[in-house]
Amino acid sequence: MPRARIIGTGSALPERILTNHDLERTLDTNDEWITTRTGIKQRRIAAEGQFTSTFAVEASRRALAMAGVDAAELDLIVLGTVTPDFPFPATACIVQHEIGAVRAAAFDLSAACSGFVYGLSIADKYIRMGMARKALVIGAEVLSRVVDWTDRNTCILFGDGAGAAIVAANTDDDNGILSTHIFSNGSFWNTLYQPGCGSRNPAGNDRTIEDRLFFIKMDGNDVFKHAVRGMDEAASAALAANGMSAADISLFIPHQANRRIIDATSKRLGLSEDKVFVNLHNYGNTSAASIPIALDEANRANRIKKGDLVLLDAFGGGFTYGSALMRW
Ligand code: ACO
Repeated sequence: MPRARIIGTGSALPERILTNHDLERTLDTNDEWITTRTGIKQRRIAAEGQFTSTFAVEASRRALAMAGVDAAELDLIVLGTVTPDFPFPATACIVQHEIGAVRAAAFDLSAACSGFVYGLSIADKYIRMGMARKALVIGAEVLSRVVDWTDRNTCILFGDGAGAAIVAANTDDDNGILSTHIFSNGSFWNTLYQPGCGSRNPAGNDRTIEDRLFFIKMDGNDVFKHAVRGMDEAASAALAANGMSAADISLFIPHQANRRIIDATSKRLGLSEDKVFVNLHNYGNTSAASIPIALDEANRANRIKKGDLVLLDAFGGGFTYGSALMRW
């Protein structure tokens, strides 16, 4: 059974930077509060005329270029997002069209911030089973359009962008994805969610508009506690399944939600700071895009070398969580 391996990564971000100081002008908040509570200093915000597919397409093109793969070779496109261009069709289909992936089956996946790890898990299984040879996995979001910019509890956290990876069957050696583990705990479905614009509270009805149900709602403290536990559980499952310990990990790439969540998770796992990749000070929480953007940055900065053991670890609304362990 061939192992699935990431052979190219790419990312794309809006040009516009919104700093904590910028937010001080419109909100009762300050840089010091945001920095100490979250670690975030700035985030990127999509311009008018830019959508989730805009960044997904750009990130995918970069990943294809790095992999030296033509889009027509792709068998599968899986795009994790909670901010698709439209409720339907899938944003993955728009990406398929834009990049010319004429042979690929394309669909979106809704697993919030775990979307990329969930997508990687699907691509891994398709490749191992021989059902696909080359897959494109994307995490892409334009969260700035679903956050309430008057709610200081949530709007300070999020940013826009996309990351992508080309996953291919590896016939050269034994490197590649060693395992993926995905979990859900639906009993917390309404701890972090967008109440409006689905079939319960349709976009155009009075209640959705009056109660502003089209914006993200979140119980931050509850999310925080469960995120640390869930990420610990997912990462520990990956290590146990492969008979490894934290000491074996070369680079840990956690979901970039909050510096304190990352630090608490790393501490529980026994990972030293130099093995933990963090870029959330620059981009905030980009949900499904956070791990593939971080992976691409780490890859392009040569933080990952052939043979390195890389652990991805995600947690998000649902709750969903999961990990992917790979030998690069
Ligand atoms: N600026 C200034 N003050 C603020 C702000 C702000 N932006 N936001 C809240 N406060 C105030 C609150 O009103 C509260 O004031 P009060 O004591 O007078 O009532 C005080 O700060 C403390 O609020 P808490 O909510 O207790 O602050 P906490 O330390 O828990 O930090 C935070 C809040 C940052 C949201 C934290 O709970 C968190 O990071 N949770 C995880 C949420 C998350 O990451 N969600 C992303 C999606 S899920 C995921 O990706 C894993």
